[in-house]
Amino acid sequence: QKISIIGVPMDLGQNRRGVDMGPSAIRYAGIIDRLEQLKLDIEDLGDIKIARPAHNNQEKVDNLRNLKEVSEGSSLLAEKVDQVVQSGAFPLVLGGDHSIAMGTLAGVAKHYENLGVIWYDAHGDLNTGESSPSGNIHGMPLAVSLGIGHEKLTNILGYAPKIKPENIVIIGARSLDEGERVLIKEKGIQVFTMHEVDKMGMPAVMEESINYLKGRTDGVHLSLDLDGLDPNEAPGVGTPVMGGLSYRESHLAMEMLAQSKMITSAEFVEVNPILDEKNKTANMAVGLMGSLLGESLL
Ligand code: ARG
Ligand code: MN
Ligand code: MN
Ligand code: MN
Repeated sequence: QKISIIGVPMDLGQNRRGVDMGPSAIRYAGIIDRLEQLKLDIEDLGDIKIARPAHNNQEKVDNLRNLKEVSEGSSLLAEKVDQVVQSGAFPLVLGGDHSIAMGTLAGVAKHYENLGVIWYDAHGDLNTGESSPSGNIHGMPLAVSLGIGHEKLTNILGYAPKIKPENIVIIGARSLDEGERVLIKEKGIQVFTMHEVDKMGMPAVMEESINYLKGRTDGVHLSLDLDGLDPNEAPGVGTPVMGGLSYRESHLAMEMLAQSKMITSAEFVEVNPILDEKNKTANMAVGLMGSLLGESLL
């Protein structure tokens, strides 16, 4: 299997600097060597070109910070991902803030009738300009992919929606805004919050998630926000929320996904080396990618 790595140095979907260095931090943490050891055919396509607005002026349109630059960056990413999937390779996208997921999903979902999505995150990222408390587009990509939000975002690659609510599973949620809770109930989105993870345990959460998606999808995208993990273990993120998933739970989750053979694309986002401790969070991301792509302990 060929894996095509795409870096996206995007930090305009939120307002803390540094997450644009995520792709460099992850490459520095050794992602290429790590995956080459798995006898995978690795191709690094480099980084998508992201705008650097003068003075970082963070202009808001309809409570959407940097709408134009975020939309353009995600469109370029979508075109690249589309080509990668078309060529038969597995796209592995390195963020960048989570707004880039709308680009990744635009490029991937074109190729599937029923693309499944595992959203591994402390947050739902189901806001719109109207419901968002921050105006940060990184809190919106899942809603956008459902076709809910500003047309400049929902219409990337010229089609909407990208995915269906019944094909989504959110894992690790512990910080949901009011509008997001309403949307989750209204659309019947499957969510395993930290409450369910604590009660059922990660093995049962993953087994249920995999069985749920298996019957209804023809491909599954993993969108992993490093803030899904506990900030004690993954401190290099812009919106940390205490009480998160552990290193061990997360590796188990990746290993179970590897065994399921259902994942057809993935992205690892929100790594911010400026807020990190000695590149701990990028190292975490690299380890998780190794487990997802078939590393085994024995
Ligand atoms: N819900 C909050 C907001 O809309 C936080 C979103 C955090 N999202 C993320 N991808 N880290 O601003
Ligand atoms: Mn910047
Ligand atoms: Mn998050
Ligand atoms: Mn997120």
